[in-house]
Amino acid sequence: MRVITVASQKGGTGKTTTSSAITSWAVSHGMKSLAIDLDPQGSLTCIMRGNGNALSSYELMKGTSAGKVIQAGTGENMPDIIPASLQLAAADAEYSTRPGRDFLLKKAIEPLHQHYDLVVIDTPPTLGTLLINALSAATEVIIPVQVDTFALQSIYQLMETISQVKEYCNSGLTVSGVLLTRYNGRAILTRDLRERLEQVCGDLGVPLFSTAISEGIATKEAQTLRESLFTYAPKSKPAQDYAALMGELEIGGCYVGKAV
Ligand SMILES: Nc1ncnc2c1ncn2[C@@H]1O[C@H](COP(=O)(O)OP(=O)(O)OP(=O)(O)O)[C@@H](O)[C@H]1O
Ligand SMILES: [Mg+2]
Repeated sequence: MRVITVASQKGGTGKTTTSSAITSWAVSHGMKSLAIDLDPQGSLTCIMRGNGNALSSYELMKGTSAGKVIQAGTGENMPDIIPASLQLAAADAEYSTRPGRDFLLKKAIEPLHQHYDLVVIDTPPTLGTLLINALSAATEVIIPVQVDTFALQSIYQLMETISQVKEYCNSGLTVSGVLLTRYNGRAILTRDLRERLEQVCGDLGVPLFSTAISEGIATKEAQTLRESLFTYAPKSKPAQDYAALMGELEIGGCYVGKAV
């Protein structure tokens, strides 16, 4: 079972959008796929048609069995989901004295190995217990970055967190890559920043995906309608870019390099 955590310590970089794209792509390619929303904001729960008033990842981390918190996917290309709840916001204070607090999620999803091919964990944009749990439970991490002046700083911060997690919690964690999101290749500033980002990734030894996800209104429209991007607008630029990313990630097996 691949467990992909989508993380960045900066807000609004496309973590939730990327989590939803990966899981719905996997479902559309016949993979048994689960999305876990670990962000108290609950955006992934909302756009993937989860019920935010039911048992959530909060209860999962407190010991409720995974079977009781998983909601079956509803609608075309929708994965199963473990929703978030606002109570997650208190996780840092609540778990601070708990033994094994960094491994609560890892332990909770262990029984799912024979049930799912792929689990994707969406995280909040802050360094805390939830992010550490998500990185400890993962086999790999994807770092979405929106190209702006603060992007480089946010990569350094997250790489520092990842290196600590590798040292103390999860030595096998790999960084699949940094992913450029909301990309507008026509803007000169964006192109300049992309070059600097390539340099920074090279220096840090972190792969940068060659696919960048274009800015496109279809993304927001699909989310508003609570549809998969691949169902709502399969020929849109962001959908095609995400399809190309799945080729790089080797998810779904049949990348054809063009519209889904
Ligand atoms: N490729 C895209 N084109 C246009 N809009 C996008 C694209 N990707 C994401 N967005 C929009 O940008 C906003 C932020 O995206 P998203 O919620 O995925 O980021 P996030 O990193 O999860 O944010 P947060 O840190 O608040 O959890 C959303 O309104 C989303 O619809
Ligand atoms: Mg989010």
